[in-house]
Amino acid sequence: MNSTAPGLAAPRKKIIVAIDGPAGAGKSTIARHLARHFGLLNLETGAMYRAFALKALRGSVPLDDPGALEELSADTSIRLEVGEVDNRVLLDGEDVTGLIRNPMVTDGASRVSVVPAIRSWMVRLQQQLGSDGGVVMEGRDIGTVVFPHADAKIFLDASPEVRGMRRFDQLGPEPPQQPEEVIRDLRARDQRDRNRADSPLRPADDAVLLDSTHMTLDEAVKAAEAIVEEKVALLGTPVAS
Ligand code: DC
Repeated sequence: MNSTAPGLAAPRKKIIVAIDGPAGAGKSTIARHLARHFGLLNLETGAMYRAFALKALRGSVPLDDPGALEELSADTSIRLEVGEVDNRVLLDGEDVTGLIRNPMVTDGASRVSVVPAIRSWMVRLQQQLGSDGGVVMEGRDIGTVVFPHADAKIFLDASPEVRGMRRFDQLGPEPPQQPEEVIRDLRARDQRDRNRADSPLRPADDAVLLDSTHMTLDEAVKAAEAIVEEKVALLGTPVAS
């Protein structure tokens, strides 16, 4: 039923901001900031691939067996809940947020994410999560596949060395890896993410490219904010509720 009075434009849905880019480009920091600044929900889709990889690793399901992974997915529930600062990810009802950031799961997530059946399942879940708008969604294929009609799209990038060092700095006082190992792993994931047949990592044609190689994260945050401000001003769309 269409409840809009004749002659009046239908109320516009709330804004969707898509942020894509390789690992360590600063997506999470920027998405978190934009969510706070514009009053949006922040949804981090990588956590969903990570949670599924954790389940496969726990069950010793081979990460290079698409059939076995698809079978496993049929028996898996993944939910993303928006918290105060970060997302919580629930795997079959268990909060696994604290278990998905180690190098093994990180590598596993990149492997399971090449499987088309896993991607289409995740994309459906993500489309449901963002269907009401009022979200900033972060990942690899948000602007190209999940929300090709997103109101603002940012593709964040930086050199592998800069991204690797940012990741290394986040590892805390007793890093499990040396900087060169972090950079090596990151290049391997880049390679897989950018070259997979299904939805490879690439900027959407209408994405604004933001290269933060020579910026501080603070400067990149400000630049992203300006990109969204400009889109919002053009659209006249309510940003959030
Ligand atoms: O953003 P992240 O590092 O947490 O993502 C983990 C892996 O998941 C990454 O190697 C690529 C994959 N991924 C994806 O293919 N599509 C997304 N929308 C998000 C993540």
